[in-house]
Amino acid sequence: MTQVYLNGAFMAPADATISPMDRGFLFADGIYEVIPAYNGVLFRFEEHLIRLERSLAEVDIRNPHSRAQWRERCEQLLRANGGGNLSVYLQVTRGAAEKRDHAFPSPAVTPTVFMMTNPIAIPAADSPETAVGARAITLDDIRWARCDIKSVSLLPNSLLRQQAVAAGASEAILLRDGFVTEGSASNVFIAKAGTIATPPKSHAILGGITRDLVVELCHQHGLALEEREITEMQLRQADEIWITSSTKEVVPVIQLNNAIIGNAMPGPLWKALAHHYVQHKRRLCGLDAPNAHD
Ligand code: PDD
Repeated sequence: MTQVYLNGAFMAPADATISPMDRGFLFADGIYEVIPAYNGVLFRFEEHLIRLERSLAEVDIRNPHSRAQWRERCEQLLRANGGGNLSVYLQVTRGAAEKRDHAFPSPAVTPTVFMMTNPIAIPAADSPETAVGARAITLDDIRWARCDIKSVSLLPNSLLRQQAVAAGASEAILLRDGFVTEGSASNVFIAKAGTIATPPKSHAILGGITRDLVVELCHQHGLALEEREITEMQLRQADEIWITSSTKEVVPVIQLNNAIIGNAMPGPLWKALAHHYVQHKRRLCGLDAPNAHD
């Protein structure tokens, strides 16, 4: 039976109830993380925790747990849900105040902590030879000016993703003032003439943990990579486009709006990177690597 975690206890989802006065419910006043685990092993846990700590500090919500406590709770939740390949969703809100007031409650209330797991679908990078690639559309980035904070205020992201889905695509790639920012729930990479590029970290994008790993792997394996602004034209004319996130890893995009990208097939740089990504994941998480040839 599925177990979730709420404020110190493990329980069935139906038993996990919070107050309607919770500021997460009233104001979307909360922070979240999504941490993948393979074979029951949390992947890039420290990096996710550093980002959680930073997001909480940026909005002045008290972090209720130490890193060791977070790890213990995440691992307990993974075990309670059978281990394997799961992502841990964790959310911390400012908590429930006595009355609705935009300003923070004073004295501060106890933060609400909720965690659940979700199965991870087999990512494209796991089978580069048979991966088919995804469709994306471009949309105006209508979000606020602090997208570096991993806030649960995801209504704009949700509206953007829904537009993509309604158009038969799986992601919306967002443009602000003619430049690529990121996807509705992913970071964006392009490749052109053998060089990979991704927008630099700023307040306009979430500093993705997967993005950072891809940058690291490119440097490690001698793939040319630039962290620089990408114009809408450069996106449209790219040989390859990839989107990255903790649950989808690195996904090749083969159609943008109505145009084909590359040869309508995942490109050679994506295949090279996907290989390195999977090897890295297998090493860290002790997964079987029948075809490993690093
Ligand atoms: N989203 N940008 C946005 C807006 C995101 O929501 C995400 C991830 C990313 C990629 O970050 P990371 O590599 O750390 O997962 C970039 C998660 C998966 C979600 O909301 O479910």
